[in-house]
Amino acid sequence: MTSLRIRRPDDFHVHLRQGDMLRDVLPSTAMIFGRALVMPNTLPPVLTGDDAVRYERTIRDAAVMAGASAVDFQPLMTIKIVASTTPEIITEAKAKGVIAGKLYPEGVTTNSEDGPKNLRSLFPVFERMQSEGMVLCLHGEVPGVFCMDREEVFLHSLRDLAVIFPRLRMVLEHVTTAAAVQAVMDTSFLSPGVPGNVAATITPHHLLLTLDDVVGDKLRPHHFCKPIAKKPSDRDALVRAATSGNPRFFLGTDSAPHARDQKECASGCAGVFCAPVAMEVLAEVFEDHHALDKLEAFTSEFGARFYGLPLNEGHVTLMKPKDSPYAVPERIHIVDGEIVPFRAGETLRWLCEV
Ligand code: NCD
Ligand code: ZN
Repeated sequence: MTSLRIRRPDDFHVHLRQGDMLRDVLPSTAMIFGRALVMPNTLPPVLTGDDAVRYERTIRDAAVMAGASAVDFQPLMTIKIVASTTPEIITEAKAKGVIAGKLYPEGVTTNSEDGPKNLRSLFPVFERMQSEGMVLCLHGEVPGVFCMDREEVFLHSLRDLAVIFPRLRMVLEHVTTAAAVQAVMDTSFLSPGVPGNVAATITPHHLLLTLDDVVGDKLRPHHFCKPIAKKPSDRDALVRAATSGNPRFFLGTDSAPHARDQKECASGCAGVFCAPVAMEVLAEVFEDHHALDKLEAFTSEFGARFYGLPLNEGHVTLMKPKDSPYAVPERIHIVDGEIVPFRAGETLRWLCEV
């Protein structure tokens, strides 16, 4: 049996949801990842430091209920940047332990109806994030643009922000295009004398999927997420970035569970529930591209360094059990329904254990 022991990974983009759903999905993240950056697009949203403190407490309580290896899981908290966010809210949130603000342009994804309509009015907020050292996480899509072009059009704003706020650390979340990969690399050279301030997260599913896997043959709602998977050449650029050892690219799973009936319907929700298979899928992709030696840095080092956090102490083991490959369940039962995980019903050749 082949095995690979790596430092315990971090997930720098996850949707842990609330209530029963939180309790049902949290173990998939908390049993493997040392820390996870928890997205604030709950209902109601996480808008202030106090909201984040309350949400963190709920997550920690759920982790205690989930048992042994989830107990030392550390949620990293975010607030949502909306039109009413003020510089004072930023300072107060930072003081309460919030490490990032997440910006969703209006209507671009799940629960983003309250997103700002323009970025300029938020410049005082970005200014304060820069001086407080709070990271700005960007859902990099422009609403209203043709869906395959939404990310590329957003890159103009990214470049502008990188010039105007050269010390504001920004993460372009869940990149899906070759153009976005290039833009992140280019921002390192925008402000002479200042080290590049832009990084990107990459999801496990975007390293595998293209638009064909969503709508090319049959409609596959469990592959539908924002931003939508793009062309094979885009997917290949993501794989190259993730396996390149460039510290500007690190793991954010964007695991985004929705109940099965909310996905398999006439107006289905966007989001892939990839947490139960995230490390296994990454091992497969990195192995297929002869880059297993780059996996640990992508999952367990680059993100922490960008956020200025210490590396995790513990380790996980990726195993390739010959006789018992990992059979991904068709469904995960939740209190009032079920969720279909990424790669449901397939057998994976890697298995990750603490
Ligand atoms: C996410 C969700 O459901 O919260 N959905 C998704 O398709 N990725 C929101 C997001 O990150 O866009
Ligand atoms: Zn997300």
